[in-house]
Amino acid sequence: MAELLDWLAATPLAEWMRLSRWGYAAVNALHVLGIALLVGAIAALDLRLLGWRRRLPLTQAARLLQPIAATGLLLALGAGCLLFLADPADYAAMPLFQIKLSLIALALANALALNLRPGIASATPRRLRLSAALSLLLWLAILVSGRFLAFV
Ligand code: HEM
Repeated sequence: MAELLDWLAATPLAEWMRLSRWGYAAVNALHVLGIALLVGAIAALDLRLLGWRRRLPLTQAARLLQPIAATGLLLALGAGCLLFLADPADYAAMPLFQIKLSLIALALANALALNLRPGIASATPRRLRLSAALSLLLWLAILVSGRFLAFV
């Protein structure tokens, strides 16, 4: 594992992330843009699942918000991997970074579980509320752990 991390740190892309004057800042901005799209869309959908704006058809809200969330997720994941490249061994050793990645895996599993079985359209209101509350808590914790990474 240590060898893989050292190899990653020695790639030209990692070097560019460390040395480029504006590269790191630009990738960080893309990470934040991805997070904004992802968490903004997810929060709106979760609030609808919790019972807000009940007259708005759930499937239509999901059809609008899920592609925005998926685009944000791809952007945040891609830019996050590039930020990680700047210092792979140190990030990998940070408990807060490990917690953040585990929380992301949990949040994605929660979203997938609801969408695959039983599916948003056929889940019971209790199941929708449970999934939405868990999703809001997890994404909030991911946001906070990501922001705190800069300070530990
Ligand atoms: C997909 C959901 C994600 C969310 C909500 C998230 C959230 C955040 C937040 C809020 C920041 C602080 C940004 C700033 O204030 O400038 C951050 C930074 C960072 N994120 Fe993410 N992140 C996500 C995914 C990832 C992934 C998948 C990785 C790596 C594989 C990653 C690696 C990083 C790194 C290395 C930093 C910089 C930390 C530092 O300042 O030293 N993130 N993230």
